[in-house]
Amino acid sequence: MRIAVLADIHSNLRALDAVVDDIATRGVDEVVVGGDIVGRGPQGAAVVDRVRELGWPSVRGNHEDYLVAFSREEVDPDWLVSDHWNASRWMAAELGTERVDHVAGLPMEHRCVKAPELLVVHGTQSSNTEGVYAWTENERLDELVSDPGIDVLACAHTHRPLTFERPGGLIVNVGSVGLPFNADWRAQYALFDRDAFGGWSVELRKVAYDRERFLQDYEETGFLAAGGVTSALLYKEVEHARPFLVPFLKWAEITEVEPNEEHMKLFLERFDPTLSMKELWSQLQGIARKERLG
Ligand SMILES: [Fe+2]
Ligand SMILES: [Fe+2]
Repeated sequence: MRIAVLADIHSNLRALDAVVDDIATRGVDEVVVGGDIVGRGPQGAAVVDRVRELGWPSVRGNHEDYLVAFSREEVDPDWLVSDHWNASRWMAAELGTERVDHVAGLPMEHRCVKAPELLVVHGTQSSNTEGVYAWTENERLDELVSDPGIDVLACAHTHRPLTFERPGGLIVNVGSVGLPFNADWRAQYALFDRDAFGGWSVELRKVAYDRERFLQDYEETGFLAAGGVTSALLYKEVEHARPFLVPFLKWAEITEVEPNEEHMKLFLERFDPTLSMKELWSQLQGIARKERLG
């Protein structure tokens, strides 16, 4: 029995197609998508259509939630006009209402049909914004696999692949297809194998795709021009396979400056994307301190 779980495609059709081709060569019995199909990229409509054509079940990520909220205007009224949210409005419009209705109907979790002991969620069973990270405490990990009916929990959301073997079962963060944050730009997903004795193992796959062409799509679709600072920083994330957008917004918040283009340029002169999350946080505070003094 072999199950593929892929997630965090983030509107990157080039990366998704590479994974589809890879899965086709791996003798897979079932494929499940772990959410964040859309958002943070220019090809949301094409990606939703491709996943539906393939008939792969998916759970709902936080980016599905965001775009549904934007499309239905269930957000702060200021976000419907402010330049700061141009990228989100562009992505919601690009999806169109029929696809928005489709992603709004996706479930929060999915048990595999051929292996019901394998549960797929976007973040955790509690929330699609709770990430499982290298520093998640064992106590929390054990809670996630405390249900005796679950042997494997496949999650995503953090864009960083990880594996934990706990007494209650295997927990695997499958990483990201379209926007990895582990400094490796290849499209990443997981293959789960069940042996004859019911034991599970996992292989974390990395698949090269035409990233240069995808960066060209950013321009050709109009997303780069329309999305302002947000699109510019997402473009950087694709280039470096590291987070830029959230660090910038955090920096702007702690330095109490507007997250506009001028400040983005300042930030990019000082920001080192190769740092770990912990180093990043202290660096951001260091930058903020200097900005306030200067
Ligand atoms: Fe994501
Ligand atoms: Fe997410």
